[in-house]
Amino acid sequence: MGKNKLRKFAEMEQMQCVYQYPFAVLESEGGCPMRGRWGADCFGNDNPLTLELGCGKGEYTVELARRNSGGNFIGIDIKGARMWTGAREATTARLDNVAFLRTSIELLDRFFEPGEVSDIWITFPDPQMKKARKRLTGTKMLETYRRVLRPDGVVHLKTDSPFLYRYTLEMLQANDIQPLAACNDIYAYAGLARKYGQPMPAEFPPALTEVRTYYEQQWLSRGMTIKYIAFRIPEGELREPDVEIEPDNYRAYPRHTVMPSDSDKKEN
Ligand SMILES: C[S@@+](CC[C@H](N)C(=O)[O-])C[C@H]1O[C@@H](n2cnc3c(N)ncnc32)[C@H](O)[C@@H]1O
Repeated sequence: MGKNKLRKFAEMEQMQCVYQYPFAVLESEGGCPMRGRWGADCFGNDNPLTLELGCGKGEYTVELARRNSGGNFIGIDIKGARMWTGAREATTARLDNVAFLRTSIELLDRFFEPGEVSDIWITFPDPQMKKARKRLTGTKMLETYRRVLRPDGVVHLKTDSPFLYRYTLEMLQANDIQPLAACNDIYAYAGLARKYGQPMPAEFPPALTEVRTYYEQQWLSRGMTIKYIAFRIPEGELREPDVEIEPDNYRAYPRHTVMPSDSDKKEN
């Protein structure tokens, strides 16, 4: 492992806002000591808890926390070296409503009790075009989220991927779920609202267009449009949609390529 990574890992061991547990702790009797106790033991209050899954460098987690002192925010990612950026920012800015948890999203219910979480943000995940069970808006993952969310909890997806956007809409339709919000180009929508002097609907929080993650900036610079869906997960069995979805064709292209893809153009 490179020296830089080792330094970051050592620093994270000392940061109060960073939580990471060996698997043996999760497997032991009692499991994660923070399960059901994030409000009391980490934040010292019972404010609503928002998770960002696959938070990368944690820009969204930190910025949401900065804007909402009445909420608690936890960024979750498996990669510690990325998370270090957000953890350092939260530490330097003395934000006491932010934490970072290094773990796998699949293990969410080992860390949170039923009903402990109010909102889940999923920001620019890999669309996992070949593996529905790994897809972060796939029904298997939604079942995991449902085990920790309040009954009125909301899942928010922000993505560049036409494939994932379409898949998520199809998944909602297959399960008779009415999205709370769905938009295939949030910046165009916000621009129109500005042009006509209209406020954005309440379902589109200001942070949506005001906070950009690292990956979001990359995709925007390549000319991609940014999409958003918000929804609740009802009780009952969830079904995978039975539809063919055109895969994204831009992901394999070199990073500097600016190319609104054909599939993206069709989406708009
Ligand atoms: C494409 S990046 C997006 C990062 C960040 N949300 C952004 O927009 O800049 C996806 C992130 O999800 C994390 N990730 C992917 N699968 C995960 C899993 N099963 N558990 C935890 N983190 C995961 C990766 O480590 C990576 O940091």
